[in-house]
Amino acid sequence: MQRAFPDVVAPDPQLAPASKPEFGDFQANGALPLAKPLGQPPRQIAAAIVAELIADPAFAALFLEPMIAGPGFINLTLRPACLAAEVASRLGDGRLGVPPVAGGLPVVVDFSSPNIAKEMHVGHLRSTIIGDCLARVLTFRGHPVLRLNHVGDWGTQFGMLITHLKQVAPEALETADAVDLGDLVAFYRQAKARFDEDEAFQSTSREEVVKLQGGDPTSLKAWGLLCDQSRREFQIIYDRLDIQLSERGESFYNPQLQAVVDDLRAAGLLVVDDGAGCVFLEGVSGKDGQPLPLIVQKSDGGFNYATTDLAAIRYRLAAAPGGDGAGRVIYVTDAGQASHFAAVFQVARRAGWVQPEVQLQHVPFGLVQGDDGKKLKTRSGDTVRLKDLLDEAVERAEADLRRRLADEDRDEDEAFIAHVATTVGIAAVKYADLSTNRITNYQFSFDRMLALSGNTAPYLLYAVVRIAGIARKGGDLGGSAEALTFNEPQEWALIRELLKLDTVLAEVEEELLPNRLCSYLFELSQVFNRFYDQVPVLKADEPARSSRLALCRLTADTLKLGLGLLGIPTLERM
Ligand code: ARG
Repeated sequence: MQRAFPDVVAPDPQLAPASKPEFGDFQANGALPLAKPLGQPPRQIAAAIVAELIADPAFAALFLEPMIAGPGFINLTLRPACLAAEVASRLGDGRLGVPPVAGGLPVVVDFSSPNIAKEMHVGHLRSTIIGDCLARVLTFRGHPVLRLNHVGDWGTQFGMLITHLKQVAPEALETADAVDLGDLVAFYRQAKARFDEDEAFQSTSREEVVKLQGGDPTSLKAWGLLCDQSRREFQIIYDRLDIQLSERGESFYNPQLQAVVDDLRAAGLLVVDDGAGCVFLEGVSGKDGQPLPLIVQKSDGGFNYATTDLAAIRYRLAAAPGGDGAGRVIYVTDAGQASHFAAVFQVARRAGWVQPEVQLQHVPFGLVQGDDGKKLKTRSGDTVRLKDLLDEAVERAEADLRRRLADEDRDEDEAFIAHVATTVGIAAVKYADLSTNRITNYQFSFDRMLALSGNTAPYLLYAVVRIAGIARKGGDLGGSAEALTFNEPQEWALIRELLKLDTVLAEVEEELLPNRLCSYLFELSQVFNRFYDQVPVLKADEPARSSRLALCRLTADTLKLGLGLLGIPTLERM
């Protein structure tokens, strides 16, 4: 455009993917807004641009001759030989055309983060599944990733719990395994109820907290046992979901909290209001129009969730060895914590702990609702236990599978059934969560997530199985990339879809929306199924047969890679 119209300053080509396949691959609408300033008909402007394009060897190597459409749109179509060469280059490439970034600063993904002595709930499940996916994508792109479990393992809940247990189940404070997490949760509820009612209990609990924070050995031992107990229960869930996490709970930052408040004071940010240490937030005011404070030290001298998060930011951004030296920190929690994180990020920046190019990002997600659109509950109205939820998904997947085997008159051994049911059940739960835009609330439905059709894990897993079946029926999927020839529109549609992977992953890395990857994999499976239903593969003559088998292989590799980044392993048969 610049060559055609040297006088126009920074012309905008308005280049975008083509809105319809018949327009080619891309369209450039930038000729139209130039009509007025240049005083020329837009088609004439487009023709001048096209003339420059054709004369450019780099362009001509990639694209067919551009077409001018309508009032002056320029439609661009990639050369079939270029597309075929791209396919060929991906066939032997484990990264499938996704460029790696070189090193760079570590990225912290803070996710899962349940609370000790409390049940891990569906909110934590969402954080676990979404956080794991983002960590996998970032790792694949080549970033050093720190997966941190910011467990709630400190604070006033332990005062109540220890006081209560001393009276009703002292063995839990002295011996490992004396209670299981279910009991611990019940004890915690009782303790909380007593705390809310009984003043004497309140003051003993507070004394317990002081003892614990002061490092009293008996309290520390009791605390350690309670944490171990919860940790074992959490680990069972992580193992089932194949989640890697490094635990670095709130207690880790305890020795740094006073220094954080001192730093804030030194930076001139700390205001003592009603006995509490506060930082007043810029641009955030309450109902009365007064600026809202972030409380960092309570009037009794104690610290809170926000103080801990400030300490965590300071530590994560500080250079090693006294910190993580991170360049990006991602927090995956429910949307309800958005204002907490906005406040904490603002204070950390104003305190000077955050280099301007460092990204601090809250990745919020909506609530998990039942079929009825209300908060997910069991039939008896209790909160749903994660173990039960995963068990039910697997049981239902097994029932579906047994029904299908009977219908198809297939005979499979129990090990096969158990493996497929577990894989499909867990995949369904993960995929259902990842495939909706995380910001909206999401309706949990076993029926929907386990359906074999639609945007579901079973549908995608089935596409992989279908391709594995082609190999079993004699198709060589390990073939080479030589002499690929394509002629059918279904082949070109599949190729164009396959070549989108790198763009999609770059988007996920930037926007932190796993549903983008899910939509892509769903679209790819659909395009593949259309291709496979409409174009013969095994019965085709050469060279079409090997070329089509190459597309099958690349599709399977792309689905496996993509599902792997969602944390979902694939099956050869199901
Ligand atoms: N434990 C918190 C909860 O259960 C989540 C912690 C998230 N991470 C953080 N750095 N605040 O809601």
